[in-house]
Amino acid sequence: MRVIAVANQKGGCGKTTTAINLTASLAFLHKKVLLIDLDPQGHSTCGLGIQAEGLAKTAYDLFHRNGHQTSISDIVVSVEQDLHLIPSHVVLSAAEQELAGADGRERRLIEQLDQLPQPYDYVVIDCPPNLGLLTYNALRASDEVMIPIEPSFFSLHGLAKIFETLDRIKREFNKTFKIHALLTRYEKRTKLTREIEEEVRRHFNDQLFSSYIRENVRLREAAAAGKSIVKFDRNSTGFQDYMSLAIEMIERGMVRHERIIDISEVEPIPAAATSAADEALSVLGLSFEHEDASPQAEEESTNIAVASEPQMPAVSPAITIEPPVSLAPHPVLGGVLFSFRSDQANEVMVAGDFNRWIAEPLVKVDSESNLWQKIVPVDPGTYRYKFLVDGEWVRDPSNISEVPTSYGGSNSVIEIQ
Ligand SMILES: Nc1ncnc2c1ncn2[C@@H]1O[C@H](COP(=O)(O)OP(=O)(O)O)[C@@H](O)[C@H]1O
Ligand SMILES: [Mg+2]
Repeated sequence: MRVIAVANQKGGCGKTTTAINLTASLAFLHKKVLLIDLDPQGHSTCGLGIQAEGLAKTAYDLFHRNGHQTSISDIVVSVEQDLHLIPSHVVLSAAEQELAGADGRERRLIEQLDQLPQPYDYVVIDCPPNLGLLTYNALRASDEVMIPIEPSFFSLHGLAKIFETLDRIKREFNKTFKIHALLTRYEKRTKLTREIEEEVRRHFNDQLFSSYIRENVRLREAAAAGKSIVKFDRNSTGFQDYMSLAIEMIERGMVRHERIIDISEVEPIPAAATSAADEALSVLGLSFEHEDASPQAEEESTNIAVASEPQMPAVSPAITIEPPVSLAPHPVLGGVLFSFRSDQANEVMVAGDFNRWIAEPLVKVDSESNLWQKIVPVDPGTYRYKFLVDGEWVRDPSNISEVPTSYGGSNSVIEIQ
């Protein structure tokens, strides 16, 4: 079970939008997911169409003094089959005062998570926009922290504070965090956004997701309609971006848990890059300590390996090249033609390394033969891919070349000369 806190004390940077749509995308990929809304404003709760007013128990019951009498499973609401929610109500704002001075007040959530009867693949915690007791509880219970960053000039300002908090928790409880940074609300590539992106990348290195979330009005509309983007609009860039993020999140976990990292593969961080980041951050009035205990130093050393290039399983040794059969993908004018035949499917999509695993819909070109097709622009290279047929990932039945994934399945493979 991976426990991920979505935290940044800056409001409006996309924490809630990310918590809702990352969890919904993971559930769409058949992961079992629990979203915990720890913000008394309850935006994740209403963003998933749940009315907290009518509920007997909410996140508040995890925290108040008699919290141990409430079983966490009594609070969980099923939003859909693989997506569950611990909803929040405005009374949660009272928890901080009520717990002041109470023993183990920052351990409440982690103790409750230990009691979870249901094995979840992912627990994602949407934190409030401050670093108070609720966020402290979330960080204490998490192994990973996702920091959404909106690329505005002030976006880097708040980061020093959250690192201070992580540092304190690390020292107090002798634990480490895996940090993920995510660029959200990304608008046009202007000189300023490029500079900020560079800055974030210099600081976070491979902790920064390659996926980023573009500004997309459909994400706002989905929240207003009480739906995740998965339910609201699968043709939106918001859906593509959050699917891409979910896949990257899964892959980061695979590396972390399954790949034995040979330390000789780890590239040291060039000293110049670190000092350039420090220099730029000091221009913004920030500084990061470089002692052993500093979050930056520790996270860098763990995460370079975690998220560096070799995270993908090597493709080349497993490829078997066979003469193409008629429906196998092949180069045509404008890209590669993907084809899929099905008399039952309502929706067929293709996703692979060539489109950052952002599923693109095929069009039903021939209803008699039930043929779905799509031309995807693809540069020469070797790529893994799969079809997404009514929400189910399937290998290409027309292509016998495949490569195992590190979690037991396999992907189809094409090589484009
Ligand atoms: N990628 C995006 N595109 C468009 N609107 C967004 C995007 N991300 C967030 N928003 C909107 O911005 C506002 C703040 O986002 P939210 O996720 O609630 O931030 P936080 O939880 O950090 O305060 C909300 O109205 C939300 O719908
Ligand atoms: Mg929020």
